[in-house]
Amino acid sequence: MNFTFLVFLFLTVNVTDESDVIGSHEPVKATVGQDVILPCHLGPPSDVSTLTVEWRQDEKQVHRYRSGKDYLALQDENFKDRTSLFHEEMSRGNISLKLTKVTERDAGNYTCFVPRLVKRGKVTLIVDHDQEKILTPADGRGFSRGAVVGIVFGILVIVGIGLFVWKKYRKTEQNAGDGGGRQEDEEDNKSEESDVIGSHEPVKATVGQDVILPCHLEPPFDVSTLTVEWKQDEKQVHRYRSGADDLVDQDKNYKDRTSLFHEEMTRGNISLKLTKVTERDAGTYTCHVPKLPSQVKRGKVTLTVESVDDADKRRQTNKTVHGGDEILTPADGRGLSRAVVVGTVILILFIVGIGLLVWKKYRKTEQNAGDGGGRQEDEEDDDQVNSSPNVQRRRRR
Ligand SMILES: *[C@@H]1O[C@H](CO)[C@@H](O)[C@H](O)[C@H]1NC(C)=O
Ligand SMILES: *[C@@H]1O[C@H](CO)[C@@H](O)[C@H](O)[C@H]1NC(C)=O
Repeated sequence: MNFTFLVFLFLTVNVTDESDVIGSHEPVKATVGQDVILPCHLGPPSDVSTLTVEWRQDEKQVHRYRSGKDYLALQDENFKDRTSLFHEEMSRGNISLKLTKVTERDAGNYTCFVPRLVKRGKVTLIVDHDQEKILTPADGRGFSRGAVVGIVFGILVIVGIGLFVWKKYRKTEQNAGDGGGRQEDEEDNKSEESDVIGSHEPVKATVGQDVILPCHLEPPFDVSTLTVEWKQDEKQVHRYRSGADDLVDQDKNYKDRTSLFHEEMTRGNISLKLTKVTERDAGTYTCHVPKLPSQVKRGKVTLTVESVDDADKRRQTNKTVHGGDEILTPADGRGLSRAVVVGTVILILFIVGIGLLVWKKYRKTEQNAGDGGGRQEDEEDDDQVNSSPNVQRRRRR
């Protein structure tokens, strides 16, 4: 401590018969949770190990030493088990106070004094509002409070991510399930009419793959003589009419890439095969049988397209192929998987952070516990001093 040096300078200048008690001109700074030494010395040095030494904060008794031992019967509760003097230094006039696990409440003006001597030393303690304090305040209860806050926050984050993902999934399912959602009703509803059923689950494909968008009639119904139409939004993907494919109005994007399973159509299977999937194919498709007598003439299938692993490559492809505007469409499958990835990463970072914080705190607490252990034994000895008349007198104060 630089300050110590200053004090010694002081000592050499200030030569009197009787020692002065010297605190600190400079305020002492500490961070919540830290240990701190409040310096105080007698100048010139003189042995105080047999005298009474007292530390106060305003009217509160912080620490008292007398008859060669700590005497803490009147110690303010705030400082319980957190103060100590350096007994072995006292013969050299060093009456610095060690204060462990500093709290904001500790900030203020302290005086160190030896009742035998007139002059008092003063030390101002400034306690920093460290950001660490928010999650892990210093004392034991503060620690568990920090942990509780952390855990609650963690749960909130997890619940939030869960809700987000669930909402996303529900949305996708609703899109897909207009027809599909009725599947269960269908068994009860004994009507002879068939409904068109798409898929609840989004269909996933990787760029370049072939994919089948499932769609069928429930109960099975021969549609080989009817018109069957696949659309993506307003774009015509595939049309079948009068026993053959009719691709005159087909959107360019799907040229030469679509087919139905003609031989399956008598059994009501109107699934669409789409080859060489591109990212542009992602979206919601409807399979439609316009002449069906049933109410439900349309099924829905959502296609999600995943790029070839490499995210950079994907971004580039987006840019060059179609300006990357799909990045912002939240309802599609890629938005969903991106949300899951982001959520997972945040969660992992959070858990690691909490772990570090807890570990750090534990280490600190352990260190403090190590320092404080010896001190407690002294206190037990002091209880025996209580019976002496001297002590009774002091107690009245
Ligand atoms: C008093 O003792 C404490 C603890 O050993 C030490 O940090 C401090 O420098 C000492 N002060 C002087 C003036 O010796
Ligand atoms: C400490 O003392 C200084 C002057 O010595 C005073 O300005 C300040 O308000 C005091 N602080 C407290 C907390 O009493």
